[in-house]
Parts: sequence; C-alpha cells; structure tokens
Amino acid sequence: MGKTVLVAGASRGIGLEFAVQYAADGWNVIAGCRNPEQARSWLPPSVDLQALDVTDSDSIDALLWHLNDKPLDLLIINAGVSGPDALGFVAPEVQAFDQVMHTNVLGPMSLVQAFGSAVAVEQGVIAVLSSRVGSVELADAANMLTYRCSKAALNMVVKTAACEFGPKGAIVVALHPGWVRTDMGGPNAHLGVTEAVEDLREVIGGLSAGSNGCFFDYTGRSVPW
Ligand SMILES: NC(=O)c1ccc[n+]([C@@H]2O[C@H](COP(=O)([O-])OP(=O)(O)OC[C@H]3O[C@@H](n4cnc5c(N)ncnc54)[C@H](OP(=O)(O)O)[C@@H]3O)[C@@H](O)[C@H]2O)c1
Repeated sequence: MGKTVLVAGASRGIGLEFAVQYAADGWNVIAGCRNPEQARSWLPPSVDLQALDVTDSDSIDALLWHLNDKPLDLLIINAGVSGPDALGFVAPEVQAFDQVMHTNVLGPMSLVQAFGSAVAVEQGVIAVLSSRVGSVELADAANMLTYRCSKAALNMVVKTAACEFGPKGAIVVALHPGWVRTDMGGPNAHLGVTEAVEDLREVIGGLSAGSNGCFFDYTGRSVPW
C-alpha cells in the first residue's frame, strides 16, 4: 500500500517540495492547497490534490470528510505566513495580527485536532514547520514581532499536541527548516529548497518515540524552546 503523507500548504516553497520528494519516493501524497488548480502543474499526477485553507474550518472539515478516517503515517503542517515586518518593536494592525495568528496558530491547532487520531493510529509523525525565531530562549532582536509571537505560540501547540497524541502513539515535533530560498525566505537565504527538504526528511525519518514534543532544526540538532 505504501505510506501516506498529508502536506498542509503544498502549493509553493517547502510544502511543495515535501510533496514532490515524498511522491518521488513512492509515498501516497495528499497535498492541501488553497488553490489546487494552480498547484496542479507543479505536482506529479499521482498526488491527491485537495483544496485546503487552514484558516477556514469548513475547508478542514471537507478534507476530513474526503479522507474518511484514512490512517496517516505523516502529517506535515507547513502552511505559514510571515506578516508585517519592521526593524523594531512595532505592534501590528488587528487585521494583520489576525491573519498571521489564524494561519500560523489556529490553523495548526485545527489540523492537529482533525487529523491527530489518524496519525496516532498509524504510530505516525506530526511535523510542524516552526522557526528558530519563535524560540523565546534565542530571541535576540525585536523585528518580525508578529511572526515571532505566532511561532512561539505554535511551539506551545506542538508541546500540547505531544501531550495529547504522544501517549496514543504519535510523535509530534516542531521543525526549524533553516533559512530557505522561498518566497518567504527570499533570494539571500542560505539553503536551497531541495536540500532543506532533503535534510528535514532525514530528520523526520530518524525520529523515535523519545522525540515526541521536541524541537529540531534541519540538521537534527535540538532548538531551545
Ligand atoms: N523559508 C524560510 O526561510 C523559513 C524559515 C523558518 C520557517 N519557515 C516556515 O516554513 C513554512 C513554509 O515556508 P516557505 O518558506 O515555504 O513559505 P512560502 O514560500 O511563503 O509558502 C507558504 C505556503 O503556505 C501556504 N499557505 C499560506 N496560508 C495558507 C492557508 N491559509 N491555507 C493553506 N495554505 C496556506 C501557501 O499557500 P498559497 O500559495 O495559497 O499562498 C504556501 O504554499 C512556513 O510555516 C514558514 O513559517 C520558513
């Protein structure tokens, strides 16, 4: 039958590359994208392309219905937005705050609630794309305030999901992908998307029960919370 992965946010960048690489390895790939018709040309025909807006509970419910309790070996929660940037400490407008928090925090919460049991039943992995800038311990600048706060909150989603679904058999982790050349990372980033995802897949492939509730970077090193 092969293994099954659901990638939430697979139209571009890191999420698209996860879908492409797992499909090339023979996995059954379900790719959740806001605009599936746009993503079709980038993804192999074997990929089950489904509409998914992580900020829309009806959209998550529709995907849940489509999957019909299908067990998942891997759930990759990748969808994310960076929101407004500023060099110093600048509070965001409400609309910008809501968009970042709904995408980066409420979306992952809803996805874990919807699909966590399908992963646990398969003793699978929930891999959540966080960022080292969400680390409270490593915080060293006031830029990207909203994004930083969203990833710090996302890290708590990971820890609490690990408490809920770890004892049921899942491994839940936060991953920092490095600084990657995508629309979000920009052209000056250190890592190409292909190598970043190859590294992340190696980290995911090496996880064990003891990894539940941990935060790793793309080299497999622990990141402090
Ligand atoms: N690139 C980096 O250097 C870096 C560093 C640290 C962490 N990360 C994290 O890694 C993840 C992927 O980043 P990336 O660099 O690949 O970003 P990206 O190139 O900007 O791509 C973001 C992806 O998220 C999707 N997305 C956004 N909002 C969504 C929503 N409401 N519903 C469904 N999908 C949605 C986008 O879909 P659309 O095409 O529909 O917009 C796109 O597929 C993010 O969580 C990011 O925070 C990236």
